[in-house]
Amino acid sequence: MTASHVKGRRDVGTSSRDSFRYFLKDSVRQIVDFRNTDQQRGIAPPPLEKPIPDGAHLIDLVPAERLHDISAMNVFTAIASRRSRRAFSSEPLTLKELSFLLWATQGIRKIAGPGTAFRVVPSAGCRHALETYLCIFNVEGIEEGIYRYLPVEHQLLLVSQPAQLSARIAAAALSQDFVGKCAVAFIWTAVPYRMEWRYGIAAHKVIALDAGHVCQNLYTACEAFHAATCAVAAYHQELMDSLLGVDGDEEFTIYIAPVGKSTTK
Ligand SMILES: Cc1cc2nc3c(=O)[nH]c(=O)nc-3n(C[C@H](O)[C@H](O)[C@H](O)COP(=O)(O)O)c2cc1C
Repeated sequence: MTASHVKGRRDVGTSSRDSFRYFLKDSVRQIVDFRNTDQQRGIAPPPLEKPIPDGAHLIDLVPAERLHDISAMNVFTAIASRRSRRAFSSEPLTLKELSFLLWATQGIRKIAGPGTAFRVVPSAGCRHALETYLCIFNVEGIEEGIYRYLPVEHQLLLVSQPAQLSARIAAAALSQDFVGKCAVAFIWTAVPYRMEWRYGIAAHKVIALDAGHVCQNLYTACEAFHAATCAVAAYHQELMDSLLGVDGDEEFTIYIAPVGKSTTK
């Protein structure tokens, strides 16, 4: 062990392994000038969600106050039975079930001011730097396509309807075919500036931590009504970003989770 390991403070390591390990640490906090972040410089906060284009096709979801009866399962059973499930039945998800999953993963509890909203999941500095895209294949009343969740309005926005969506998402998931054989694949992107506005270059690790909370809520919510999901972090970055139509720089894919009704109860 070198002296620099013993000291609390270290710059990014000289080897790439050190720099990747550095990402997991909070040492970056010691080199960020928090007086100089965009927030401290008085720049207005970025919006809570990406804007809604004019003329967008919007779909209303079932409001949160009508979702409480989605499951009678207690939280102990939901947590105890959770596992990664990669097989999905051909039974569609209902709009209410999809609404529940979107609310459970990114639903807004309270808007606290411009650019700040508390959601059902925690987020470092309440910055919530994620967007949720859905590749919908088998949800009652919704055509196949790529959609974006609007947490403020609790609506879906149609993004695109690419041909051969199932094959394209499976290819973008590095031939993990189950990703294209679900009822709906959740794809979370990061919009890093939402977190950088407050934390500068100390933003990135906490965005990844936030994604973990979101996916864990998806697992628990799925389990509660016998749906199946599996976290997926192995994918082709450029293919997945291009499928969603995001630029890969100001916004890019960070996590995926296909969902469908379970083949076992
Ligand atoms: C961050 C993360 C990334 C994962 N990526 C994949 C993946 O790309 N493909 C896959 O089949 N499973 C993936 N998994 C699921 C794990 O393989 C699974 O959680 C692990 O085998 C433990 O099984 P369990 O979830 O049933 O307890 C991922 C899980 C996590 C938490």
